Formats: sequence, C-alpha cells, structure tokens
Amino acid sequence: MTTATPRPTALVTGATSGLGLAFARRLAADGNDLVLVARDVPRLDRVADELRSAYGRRVEVLPADLADRGQLQRVADRVADTARPVDLLVNNAGFGLGHGFVDGRLPDEERLLDVLVRAVLVLSHAAAGPMRDRGRGAIINVSSVSGFVVMGSYSAAKAWVTTFTEGLANELGPHGVRVTALCPGFVHTEFHQRAHQRMTQVPRPAWLDADDVVDACLADVRRGRVVSVPSARYKAAVLLIRLVPRSVVRRITGGFSRSRTSGATVGGAH
Ligand SMILES: NC(=O)c1ccc[n+]([C@@H]2O[C@H](COP(=O)([O-])OP(=O)(O)OC[C@H]3O[C@@H](n4cnc5c(N)ncnc54)[C@H](OP(=O)(O)O)[C@@H]3O)[C@@H](O)[C@H]2O)c1
Repeated sequence: MTTATPRPTALVTGATSGLGLAFARRLAADGNDLVLVARDVPRLDRVADELRSAYGRRVEVLPADLADRGQLQRVADRVADTARPVDLLVNNAGFGLGHGFVDGRLPDEERLLDVLVRAVLVLSHAAAGPMRDRGRGAIINVSSVSGFVVMGSYSAAKAWVTTFTEGLANELGPHGVRVTALCPGFVHTEFHQRAHQRMTQVPRPAWLDADDVVDACLADVRRGRVVSVPSARYKAAVLLIRLVPRSVVRRITGGFSRSRTSGATVGGAH
C-alpha cells in the first residue's frame, strides 16, 4: 500500500482581493492546499469555492480581523499547529489610510500598525519555530517600495517590514527556511479605492499587474532572494533611491504625496 504525500499548505492573509487573491490562485495552481484569512466571510467562502472547484485543493477559511489581538492569536495558533504544518506563510493583508498623520485619527493609525506590523511580527513568530525545527518552509512578508521612501506612517511600517524580514532571513536561512520581503510599486488592486486615494496623477507605466508581481516574487523566493522588487523599472527606482541623499528622497516623495491629495500629505501610499 502506498501512502500519498500530503500536499504543501500555504496560509495567505488578505486572500480575498488584490495581491493576496493572486497569491492564493497561483499557489493553488502550483499544487498547494490553502488556508485563507480575511474579515469578509462571504467573500472568503466564494474564493475558497473557486479554488476548490478550479484546482481541486483543500481550502480552509479562517475569518479574522488581524487588528484584533484575540483573532490574530487564532491565526497564529493555526500557523504554529505542528499537526497541520503550514509550509508557506504569506503575510499580505494590509491597507492604507489615504491622509496625513496629523489630520488622521490616532485609533486608525494604531489599527494600521496592528495590521501592517504587529500581525506580521506575531504570525512570523508562530511560523518561524516550527519551520526551523522541520528544516524547511518559507515566509513572504508583503512590504512595499514605500518602505524605501518617506510617505507617512505607512512608509515607516513598510520600512519595518523589510528590515524585520531581512533579520529573520539571517536567522532562518541557515536552517533551510526562506524568508522574503516583497516590495512592489503601484499595483492594480482595491487598495487605493479602499483608502479613498485619487490616483489619476500616477502614470500608466508605473502600475503593475498583481499576477505579474506574485510570479516575480515566487521566482525570487525559489532563488533565495531576501528582498524582491518586481519589474525592472522599480528595481531601477530602488537603486536610485539608495544612491541619492536622503534629503532629496524626502523632498521628492513629500511633494509627490501632497500632489495626490487636496493639500494633505498621503499617509498610505502603495
Ligand atoms: N496595491 C498596491 O499598490 C500595493 C503596493 C505595495 C504594497 N502593497 C501591499 O500589498 C498588500 C495587499 O494589498 P492589496 O493591494 O492587495 O489590497 P486589497 O486589494 O485592498 O486587499 C487587501 C486584503 O487584505 C484584507 N484585510 C484588510 N484589512 C484586514 C484586517 N484588518 N484583517 C484581515 N484582513 C484584512 C482584505 O480583506 P477584508 O477586507 O475582507 O479583511 C483583503 O483581502 C498590503 O500589505 C499592501 O500594503 C500594495
């Protein structure tokens, strides 16, 4: 009698829209079972049904608001469950606020930090120990090119995600676990609409397609790249940002932020 090898399992946060949905579809097509996390339960169920019928995968739905510490813990417990190992964690859920820090409400800023930073911290911790002990696995933390520039608290949170991910890659790399920060530029998703951001000033060539971003990221994970910046144009932009003085980066990105709102600086960029 032969025992079937279990399929690898990927857990994706924010799996109902944009980059998370693109990850879920690509990973299902590539042979992974899935655990899908987001808040909107009917939408989670629709995505799960689609993935089951299109790819024949086992799909769990795990509704959770990652800004809520108790609900986040339920997701962390699932990630850390050694009886049902998660082989790939994609910390993707996120949002922007669409206004400057000074004009915003502090509870919204705290919620932003909870989802963009605390959830990434807690879920990475839940995944790291079991993956190290198994000697394999991968963690993708969705950051942003915003983390290299100066666009309010969103940029600061994404800078944290990238730096944190690099440190985690140092710790886990010797144990066979791959860790990658995905840093995309502008991607066509629901992100800007949800943040009520006017995007008419962003030129068409600056926009990326979510499926292309996901394919580039997964290729970088396979190559063992720690920081993944999809597309030649954003790779060049990041190189330039790293070369010019920080005062120039502040001046240029500050002006760009202001031009996208009626006078206020954008807090959540891309
Ligand atoms: N779009 C861009 O230009 C761009 C560029 C660089 C980086 N990013 C990053 O990419 C990631 C994905 O964003 P996206 O562009 O794909 O946006 P999106 O289309 O708006 O999707 C966001 C996803 O996150 C989920 N989500 C939001 N808040 C949540 C919470 N509190 N708890 C659990 N799930 C939550 C949403 O589902 P529910 O509403 O049902 O919870 C949805 O599935 C984010 O981390 C974002 O910062 C985006």
